[in-house]
Amino acid sequence: MASVRLVALKAPYIPSSLRNLSNFLLPRTHVFTVRDFSTAMSPPSTAVIYDQYGPPDSVTRIVEFSPVELKETDVCVKMLAAPINPSDINRIEGVYPVRPQLPSVGGYEGVGEGHSLGSSVKDFSPGDWVIPSPPTSGTWQTYVVKDQSVWHKIDKGMPIEYAASITVNPLTALKMLEDFASLKAGDAIVQNGATSIVGQCIIQLARNQGIHSINIIRDRAGSDEVKEKLTKLGANQVFTESQLEVKNVKALLADDIPEPALGFNCVGGNAASLVLKFLREELW
Ligand SMILES: NC(=O)c1ccc[n+]([C@@H]2O[C@H](COP(=O)([O-])OP(=O)(O)OC[C@H]3O[C@@H](n4cnc5c(N)ncnc54)[C@H](OP(=O)(O)O)[C@@H]3O)[C@@H](O)[C@H]2O)c1
Repeated sequence: MASVRLVALKAPYIPSSLRNLSNFLLPRTHVFTVRDFSTAMSPPSTAVIYDQYGPPDSVTRIVEFSPVELKETDVCVKMLAAPINPSDINRIEGVYPVRPQLPSVGGYEGVGEGHSLGSSVKDFSPGDWVIPSPPTSGTWQTYVVKDQSVWHKIDKGMPIEYAASITVNPLTALKMLEDFASLKAGDAIVQNGATSIVGQCIIQLARNQGIHSINIIRDRAGSDEVKEKLTKLGANQVFTESQLEVKNVKALLADDIPEPALGFNCVGGNAASLVLKFLREELW
C-alpha cells in the first residue's frame, strides 16, 4: 500500500483541499501515517481516441483526459508500451466482430506500471508491472484507471515488447493447439501464414511439446532467410506456396514426420487448400 508520513505539518504547507480538515483534526505537530493523498486521483492522461469508425489515420485524434478519482478497488496504471495489433485497426475501422462503443480509446493490450491505488487495494504496489488480462479496451493512453480485477502482475524481467503483446497472439496460439485436437509428442500440425506472430508462437509452443510443425509461407524476396529464421524458432519444415505446386504434397514430408493431425489457416484461397492437402485423410 502506498503511504506517506506527514511529519510536523504546519498550516502553510497543508494542501488547500485539506486545510479545513486539518485545522479541525490535527494538532500542529502531530505525526501520523496516511495514504498518499496524491494517489486518490490519477494524473491527466493523453489518449488516442476515435469517435467514428473509419480509416485510423483520419478518425483518430489525441486528447487530454482530466484526472479521475480512483474508486476503492481501482488501480491507476502508467502505460509503458501498447502494441498496434491488426485487430486494433479493424476495431477502429468498425469491421471487427465486436464494435467498441463510441467514443473509444484505441488499443486492447499492453503493459504498464502500477502508479496509484484505490484505498482497499492490497495486492498491487506502485511500480508493479501489470497487464490487463483478459485484454481490455483503452490501452493507448498514458494512464489507465481500471478495477484491480482487470490487472495481473507480471515478471519485470520480461522484455517490454513481449510483455505488451502477450495476451492476444500467444494465448490464441496456445488455445488453437489445445482446443481442437488432442495432440501428443510426435504428432504434426500444418499452418499457413507461418511468419505471422500467431504462427511463430505456434511453432515455438509446438516445439516445446515435441509436436512437429509444417509451415507454409508466401513466395517473397528473402524467403530463404525467413525459412532460416522460422527453423531457428523450431519449425520442422518450411515451404513456400510455389514449392507445394506438386501432385502429392505429402511426399514432401520428412521421413520422421507423420501426416498432420491439425491444420491452421489464416490466409484463405490457395494457401488454405495447401493446408488441407497435408492433413490426414480422415480429417477431410
Ligand atoms: N480469434 C482471435 O482471437 C485471434 C487473435 C489473434 C489473431 N487471430 C488471427 O490469427 C491470424 C494471424 O494474426 P497475426 O496478428 O499473428 O498476423 P500478422 O502477424 O499480422 O501476420 C499476417 C500473416 O499473413 C500473411 N499474409 C498476409 N497476406 C497474405 C497473402 N496474400 N498470402 C499469403 N500470406 C499472407 C503474412 O505473410 P508475410 O509475412 O509474407 O507478410 C503473415 O504471415 C489472423 O488471421 C488473425 O485474425 C485471431
